[in-house]
Amino acid sequence: HHKIIIDTDPGQDDAVAILLALASPEEIEVLGVTVVAGNVPLALTEKNARIVCELAGKPETKVFAGCGKPMGRPLVTAEYVHGETGLNGPQLQDPVMALQEQHGVDFIIETLRREPAHTVTLCPLGPLTNIATAFEKAPDVVARVRQIVLMGGAYFEVGNVTPAAEFNIYVDPQAADIVFKSGAPLVVMPLDVTHKALTTRARIEAFRGMGTEPGRMVAEWTDFFERFDMQKYGSEGAPLHDPCVIAYLLRPDLFKGRHINVEIETQSELTMGMTVADWWGVTDRAPNALFIGSLDADGFYDLLVERIGRL
Ligand code: BDR
Ligand code: CA
Repeated sequence: HHKIIIDTDPGQDDAVAILLALASPEEIEVLGVTVVAGNVPLALTEKNARIVCELAGKPETKVFAGCGKPMGRPLVTAEYVHGETGLNGPQLQDPVMALQEQHGVDFIIETLRREPAHTVTLCPLGPLTNIATAFEKAPDVVARVRQIVLMGGAYFEVGNVTPAAEFNIYVDPQAADIVFKSGAPLVVMPLDVTHKALTTRARIEAFRGMGTEPGRMVAEWTDFFERFDMQKYGSEGAPLHDPCVIAYLLRPDLFKGRHINVEIETQSELTMGMTVADWWGVTDRAPNALFIGSLDADGFYDLLVERIGRL
């Protein structure tokens, strides 16, 4: 059983990840969703998170707004990928459920202090600003984390926002550096694995074929998301990044990786936000992360279809 906090910047693929978690109450208890600025500004990501919880039929889910900008750099957004709302694709209605009053960072701190040590998993799906800010503000909570399973970084697949960096790490490299050096157990889903979780026509149609509202939304989101990435990579489909994090909690057997050392570039403008991953063990730096490199893509999509079909 996993008690989790989802930290997110929805984003179509974030939305699918949230749906996957909320569709899996037997294995996953979502203590709260904290929202960060990333794909689009905070006012949109927090609204989008509420839209997704309502779509899952779980308006009781607690959604908290967190940080509106990275720790030390101006915000870089990605409307060119996700559309100006962050959830372009289907027609969406404004959410009715309220945003929580507490700041997302304070919710993270309070939850880690309240719950028994080593029982709460953090699931960051966007820039790491909220998590790093919580660790800076309340260093005592770091040792209480069970694990952090995050989407971010790249090694063999290098960058998607600059030639060297993946978007989530690039947007707030300082925050990523704090998290990667924190000592909390880390599982990293870099582009190396997410670029193997490609949407195909058949996979998108499986969502549409459910005949449910969540199924239709997932199909339209992935349809929209695909246009950009297919042009960019020339691949058959687009990578569904963030759901890998939740799928890992449900089916770790679908993923393969290595325990290695990963450091974050925070100085060079040329390679800012690069995840320098010692995949071949060429240094004696201590491993700090399980860096995932591959997955069983069919198993991953079977799981998604089965779970989204429950909503
Ligand atoms: C990451 O960046 C965002 O655009 C996606 O939601 C994902 O979290 C992929 O680089
Ligand atoms: Ca994201």
